[in-house]
Amino acid sequence: MSYQSKNSITPEPFWRESTKLASFSSLDHDIHVDVAIVGGGITGISTAYLLAKNGVKVALIEANQLANGTTGHTTAKITAQHDLIYNEYIQHFGEEKAKLYYDSHTEAKNFMTQLINEHNINCDYSAQDAFLYTTNNRGIGKIEKEFEAYQKLGIDGQYLKDLPLKLRTKAALSMKDQAQFHPLEYVSFLIKEIIAHEGIIFEDTVAMDIEKENNPTVLTKNNRKISAKHVVITSHFPFYDSRLYFSRMYADRSYVIAGYSNQPFPKGMYLSIDQSPRSLRSASYNDRQLIIIGGEKHKTGQGMDTMYHYEALEDFAMETFESFDVQYRWSAQDLTTLDKMPYIGPLENNNPSILFATGFKKWGMTTSTVAAHLIKDYVLGETNTYSELYSPSRFVSDPSIKQFISTNSDVAKHLIGGKLEQPTKNVDELESDEGSVVTWHGKRAGAYKDTDGHIHVVDTTCTHLGCEVNWNHGDRTWDCPCHGSRFGYDGHVIEGPAKKPLKTLHSEKN
Ligand code: FES
Repeated sequence: MSYQSKNSITPEPFWRESTKLASFSSLDHDIHVDVAIVGGGITGISTAYLLAKNGVKVALIEANQLANGTTGHTTAKITAQHDLIYNEYIQHFGEEKAKLYYDSHTEAKNFMTQLINEHNINCDYSAQDAFLYTTNNRGIGKIEKEFEAYQKLGIDGQYLKDLPLKLRTKAALSMKDQAQFHPLEYVSFLIKEIIAHEGIIFEDTVAMDIEKENNPTVLTKNNRKISAKHVVITSHFPFYDSRLYFSRMYADRSYVIAGYSNQPFPKGMYLSIDQSPRSLRSASYNDRQLIIIGGEKHKTGQGMDTMYHYEALEDFAMETFESFDVQYRWSAQDLTTLDKMPYIGPLENNNPSILFATGFKKWGMTTSTVAAHLIKDYVLGETNTYSELYSPSRFVSDPSIKQFISTNSDVAKHLIGGKLEQPTKNVDELESDEGSVVTWHGKRAGAYKDTDGHIHVVDTTCTHLGCEVNWNHGDRTWDCPCHGSRFGYDGHVIEGPAKKPLKTLHSEKN
């Protein structure tokens, strides 16, 4: 089947189409609260929920719409099986810390399950075992090592040779009693509870900076101020980054399709550990079983035509199931820290008035709850068993130094390489709905011709630190290969660390 027919599907996650979240106005006056939370994804919302329940006056602001970033683009597995990680953590951090990591996510899963059961949250929750699998011989040893790590840490799992899906499995590893759900239905409940506990929420409110006097004050793009005892940054890349955390993380993108098949999906959530990973789970929608397939990761702004990734997922779906009719497609961006352990805690050493949480890899569902509890405890001055494990100022171990050098040499390569690249295309060669790097008045620029034939030309120099952005046709965005900033076709900021739009060179507005 050609993917051309599916090219017209708008890149919109199933979660958003099937849920209506409450909407909120933007902040138009100065306010004072106990805690200002910047970033309205599941982490910011869970943190606001816990704090508001504890009698803390919170204000949550979101630059766009609530839960429209990573949270709205997830595959929504509530699990402590985070790919192959436990053997690696034992090597890098030791058994005790690897166990703490597992415990923190198991507690988070139990907290979410209990909340859902206690309040009858209608969020398509179901208990499922999680499975890792490999389809090639090289992966067998890795699965075996991970199984050994499970045994050392007391994780309830099983080594398997086969799975109830046509996946050409060579080896697999289960983790028992995990779960899946509809993340926006869950978040919708938390939002109502925040409001019921006198929390306040603003959308379309962009935080630009933090002024530090006695108390930190968040300054917004439209010149409003939120003064607070604590500022909590849950904006994916921290919008305020006095310690340059952006240079200690990398961003990658992955892709998801969802559709219907004649073949029933068995119980379980699956993830391959192979070079082109595949993630599978089901969801129910309108009494039908929807199959969700993710995978195909690459570093943001690097790699081939992004439509290729959707096509590869659809080919995989057709091979695995007897039929597959794609209904939705979307992509996600995830951040990974150099040592693969999230950063949760004070942004600056010994200053708990500015807290942040980021670098969740692809595992935001449980990590958001781990972060919300940790941040709540920092704010309330309570001790938390996991604070040292996730501390952003933790000792930087040897593997992360190597990774730091390689990540930043990659940035240097793109910083210089992008500028030297000579575009061969001109604007008048663009087809409808095509974007490309072009030559514009003798210089490198980015042009997109929309479906009405209007041309939009932007300066391709990223407003963060000056790398050259590349066209992402799958999402119609300009993506930066250095630290993952993303911009709309007209240059507006979709994702940081950049805060300013790409410079407009020419725009034919509708
Ligand atoms: Fe850092 Fe573009 S995101 S230079």
